[in-house]
Amino acid sequence: MSIADLTVPLPNAPGVAMPAIGFGTWQVNREAVAVAAAAGYPAFDSATMYHTERDVAAGLADEGLAPADRFLTTKIWRTDMSDGGVRRAFHASSKNFGVDVVDLLLIHWPQNAKTNLETWLAMQELLDAGQVRAIGVSNFDAADLDALAKGSDVVPAVNQIELHPRRQRAQLVEENRQRGISTTAYSPLGQGGPVLRDPALGAIASDHGVTSAQVALRWLVQKGIVAIPRSSNPERIRENIDLDGFALDDDEMARIDDLPRQLRN
Ligand SMILES: NC(=O)c1ccc[n+]([C@@H]2O[C@H](COP(=O)([O-])OP(=O)(O)OC[C@H]3O[C@@H](n4cnc5c(N)ncnc54)[C@H](OP(=O)(O)O)[C@@H]3O)[C@@H](O)[C@H]2O)c1
Repeated sequence: MSIADLTVPLPNAPGVAMPAIGFGTWQVNREAVAVAAAAGYPAFDSATMYHTERDVAAGLADEGLAPADRFLTTKIWRTDMSDGGVRRAFHASSKNFGVDVVDLLLIHWPQNAKTNLETWLAMQELLDAGQVRAIGVSNFDAADLDALAKGSDVVPAVNQIELHPRRQRAQLVEENRQRGISTTAYSPLGQGGPVLRDPALGAIASDHGVTSAQVALRWLVQKGIVAIPRSSNPERIRENIDLDGFALDDDEMARIDDLPRQLRN
């Protein structure tokens, strides 16, 4: 099966199929979205704070696609983290996307436990009303997840966190898994920084005749972690979803797992 067709299970949102790879839309424009849509990205990751929801809708339309043809994620920014704020922000986001139902709505960054819970309960109302298919969080650690669980029985479907071969977050990924939470890796390419110059990734890439970026993304997908790379360069947009022609064996996966983990980007 092509990686563009691969989905991950969301145990806490039964029946919702989340694509294993998506296109990150922080600081990208409509043209980049159109290239990504044409390249076959099945999902697009946006946020109120990125101001790219309209570019997502426009870029999809440029390729003859409706917003509902792709899995769309957006996020509640910290200034909207209240009961009324969530409703207003969701209304604006769904209008920007041009949809009635958003696939996945996340809390963008945790605040204090009370604010997180008030926000979460408002998001549950959207879920119950069928206006979002799944709800989740981003940048939550285990303590944030525990605090949320004290006030709500609804466990996040997704926790979107910074994660790449040099910042692996293995303990948090495991904490997520134990709660049935699917992990999404943001900045999966370390924002195009030193990660992509790592010699170990480079060696594996050259053995397969691919790039270090492709190895980093393939490693994530093979671990069952959703990856949402961003690029504004058409060639790299296509490269980042061109992951079907090779696979990492157990030894290569282990070599990446064993890389020093503290490099942020
Ligand atoms: N939830 C959160 O708090 C949060 C935070 C950050 C990001 N995110 C999400 O995650 C997405 C991705 O993360 P990110 O944007 O921080 O960084 P990223 O995807 O790790 O890296 C993007 C950078 O890498 C470069 N790049 C892309 N493909 C490449 C390739 N094949 N070879 C070499 N360089 C390449 C891009 O430059 P070019 O454009 O020139 O190709 C860009 O500078 C965001 O767009 C956003 O949707 C979420």
